[in-house]
Amino acid sequence: MPYRIITTIFLGWLAYANVQNQAQTDPLVFPKDKYTVETKTIKTSAGDKTVKIHAYKHLLYVAKPVDKDYQSLDVSVPVEIDGLAVDAQNAPILFAIGVGGYISVNNAKGNVPGGPMFPGGGTPVDRRPGGPPRMQGGGKPQRTSNKDLALAAGFVLVMPGCRGRDNQAADGKYFGKAPAAIVDLKAAVRYLRHNKGRMPGNTDLIFSTGVSAGGALSALLGASGNNDLYAPYLKKIGAAATNDAIFGSACFCPITDLEHADGAYEWMYGSTPGRNGVVDQALSQKLIQQYKYYQEALHLKGQNGFGALTVDNYDDYILNNYLLPSANFFFKNLSDEARKDYLSKNPWISYSIEKGVAFKWTDYVAHVGRMKGLPAFDDFELKSPENIVFGNKTTNARHFTNFSQQQTTKTPAAEIDAEVKKQVDLMNAMFFIQASNKGCAQHWWIRHGTSDNHTSQSVIVNLGTALENQQKNVSTKLYWDAGHGADEDAEDFIAWIKHICATRK
Ligand code: DHB
Repeated sequence: MPYRIITTIFLGWLAYANVQNQAQTDPLVFPKDKYTVETKTIKTSAGDKTVKIHAYKHLLYVAKPVDKDYQSLDVSVPVEIDGLAVDAQNAPILFAIGVGGYISVNNAKGNVPGGPMFPGGGTPVDRRPGGPPRMQGGGKPQRTSNKDLALAAGFVLVMPGCRGRDNQAADGKYFGKAPAAIVDLKAAVRYLRHNKGRMPGNTDLIFSTGVSAGGALSALLGASGNNDLYAPYLKKIGAAATNDAIFGSACFCPITDLEHADGAYEWMYGSTPGRNGVVDQALSQKLIQQYKYYQEALHLKGQNGFGALTVDNYDDYILNNYLLPSANFFFKNLSDEARKDYLSKNPWISYSIEKGVAFKWTDYVAHVGRMKGLPAFDDFELKSPENIVFGNKTTNARHFTNFSQQQTTKTPAAEIDAEVKKQVDLMNAMFFIQASNKGCAQHWWIRHGTSDNHTSQSVIVNLGTALENQQKNVSTKLYWDAGHGADEDAEDFIAWIKHICATRK
């Protein structure tokens, strides 16, 4: 046999043996031939689309899991749309974070958050003081989710499980406190990248999405890409040794910047009565004062030469740049009759064809109303979801701000532990954006309802502005009159991803 043929056979065998060997020794190899076939009919504005999917379920994404029910993911690969074959090999990947209320996502049970806050699973609804629960999107009709629309657009959909604040082992130890959820999500991203080429989807085009606590984790995943601070945690669970940066991040009502959210909430709702009347005004003022210093220290600059954003001008900034455009967009789509009806029910708003909508910030805040008590997040009684996120193995809930620590211990100089402080940083997208983290995502989609009172509007606009100030591509919008969890322009989101992918350099 000629020498060249022998060499070719030998090299071919070597490559084959290598692949076999890797599959046997590497627990993180994507099992590309192990799928089931599913068919989904998805409603879009262009009519129903029938999508044939290769569904991969419950793929373990770490080599040393704490609990594989949580540290596994599902992958859906569209292979046919309306009877036409599609090739998703190079398609964008939508990485859909199912977390709500900082509760774990059990991948073995279909990726819905469960536990005490949302016993039925799924996205929470917004409860207004004294009022009925508001549906997602302020009672507007449910639209097709961005996950389904992604499949209908030919994108690969990844749904990771992850640990959360509710996880407790048989021996009573907690195993999902901060920063477990973000560590798991990063490990899941690494799994995808580890399988580059083997798994359909382009790992350079990963876009995360999430709602509320999931929105905050989506923001954090986007902001903290490749940051070394997570390295020991990732190593411990046997995450793939690759990078975890993502290309884009979508954050719906992100409940982020937790350690500053109490002050931000008082800044917005401090004098607005809540369920139990007006909160303690002296404490509210103290929190506002702390927030004032934080806001100044961020050194954020508003759009179009607005200059530094401060607690004194932020109401005007949000009103003119976000609320009025949102209200005007809403009004544009109303018939004359519907507009009249709306105005008669909302006398705090005025309207003229020439000038559009007008209202005052204070009337808007009164209209929305205060939902949470004081402090809104670091609850004196340690009962908020956030207190429970910042527990540890043996303690279910802890304070995570000096303010609440000082108030509850009646010790003016009290400070939270260094261990909690580290958890707080590792859970805050703003921490990484302000530190100009190199692996921060380039593309951002930020959405919030104008009637969502789970956090201050300034938390949302701070996130968008901090990213704008870092020269990121940011789309921040508020949905008029929409409550918690609203997603009213899901098709625009899919078009946004397509545009970014088509025009990227
Ligand atoms: C969620 C809502 C909250 O008000 C909060 O503080 C944390 C999380 C949520 O819906 O995920």
